Amino acid sequence: MTDTSTPDKDLLRHVILDFRQMAQFAEEPWVFTRGEGVKVQDSTGKWYLDGLSGVFVNSLGYGNQRVLDAAVAQLREMHFAPPLHGTTQPALDLGARLRRLAPAAMQGEHGPGIKILSGGSEATEAAMKLARQYWKQAGHPRKYKIIARYGGYHGGTMGALSATGGWERKSVFEPLVTGFLHHHPPSVFRSLFGRDLTPEECGIASARLVERTIESEDPETVAAIIVEPISISSAGYVVPPPEYFQVLRAACDKHNVLLIYDEIITGFGRLGQWFGADCFGVAPDVLCCGKGMGGGYAPVSAVIIAGKVWDAFLGDPAARLEFHHGHTFAGNPVAAAVGCAAIDEIEARDLVGRAHREGAYLRSRLDALQREYPDVIGDVRGAGFLQGFEFHAGRFPKSAKPGKRFEALARERGLLARCGEEYVAFAPPLVTDRADLDAMLDVATDCLHELAG
Ligand SMILES: Cc1ncc(COP(=O)(O)O)c(C=O)c1O
Repeated sequence: MTDTSTPDKDLLRHVILDFRQMAQFAEEPWVFTRGEGVKVQDSTGKWYLDGLSGVFVNSLGYGNQRVLDAAVAQLREMHFAPPLHGTTQPALDLGARLRRLAPAAMQGEHGPGIKILSGGSEATEAAMKLARQYWKQAGHPRKYKIIARYGGYHGGTMGALSATGGWERKSVFEPLVTGFLHHHPPSVFRSLFGRDLTPEECGIASARLVERTIESEDPETVAAIIVEPISISSAGYVVPPPEYFQVLRAACDKHNVLLIYDEIITGFGRLGQWFGADCFGVAPDVLCCGKGMGGGYAPVSAVIIAGKVWDAFLGDPAARLEFHHGHTFAGNPVAAAVGCAAIDEIEARDLVGRAHREGAYLRSRLDALQREYPDVIGDVRGAGFLQGFEFHAGRFPKSAKPGKRFEALARERGLLARCGEEYVAFAPPLVTDRADLDAMLDVATDCLHELAG
């Protein structure tokens, strides 16, 4: 039954939302009550097209029968097993699926290692701890520094936040963990290098600056670089050219630095390939995934560790080579069963291929919008079912925040989208059909029409 009653103000004020002023929220609450397919309903009874997949999570839409059945069956069989003592069949099955899907270059002699966790921050945190432990065991004990990107987002826990690159989320918690450095992102549209460089040259120049940073810091102190293949946060929407990853990979190989991809958003078909690593043709040493991995039906994430790195963690117990990291809910059997079912669903319905094909259609409509509003839309970018546009610099005064205005207009018209101040991005569920995709883009067209005045 749908609850359309007005929520109790006192309850609203005391449940703390992410990054939200609760006194204000209690006055203007937004309570979701129901999801069906690619639509969600709020407590006023209004329906929205979910152009954001929750928050890059609901790739399978709401009410997926295969995943629901798997979750219920596992809940009845065994809902929890202590990860300190042993594992369960669903966790083993999920590990096997992730090993099979991992990029070929991560396979190694014994295949990749898989650490199953619950959330994105747990995954990035674990990946960075793993990098530090790895170098201690691999004969380079001074390697501890982690290089991340300004504008990147890697999570809310102290290590993940230290890697995060926007001051807005960090400054109230400083000082953070030591040993974290940042470099500027390879933003092509608003390039640091101006408009003189091609996108390829811009990517190469950005990656060379990262290599210079490694050299300037002393390569013997640098453990890892962490990047999102495509990053999308309040700080911007960055889509690097493939050359950026090629130069980064070569720099990591040359200087013995692990390359970590944070694919919490980009993994599991979002870009029309299983992983951003496949999309850009460059594999990392460690790959973090979460969000769409379980479609939101259970909190599940993972760290995939390339075979050559994982080998360093296997040996005599007396040598204490095991990964010194754990969480109570790591590898939870219900979450693992959900992860398995979500992957099976993605494969059975070829949702990765679908995101690729329908992503081309999404691009064609965004390109058409740019042709219609050439003085408003400056750039269209992204891949698969993660695409969007950036407003022309200078078209609106800085204080106008056109992306935020677009977000409000879209919400009024029943569409959820991801907007920064200067960009708008669409990340529809991978199951979105053409009619719903068109409906989302029709709303977007309407909003742009109003914004353009
Ligand atoms: C790229 C990226 N990494 C890590 C995280 C953290 O994930 P979680 O919120 O599940 O801890 C997020 C969350 O938005 C993310 O977008």
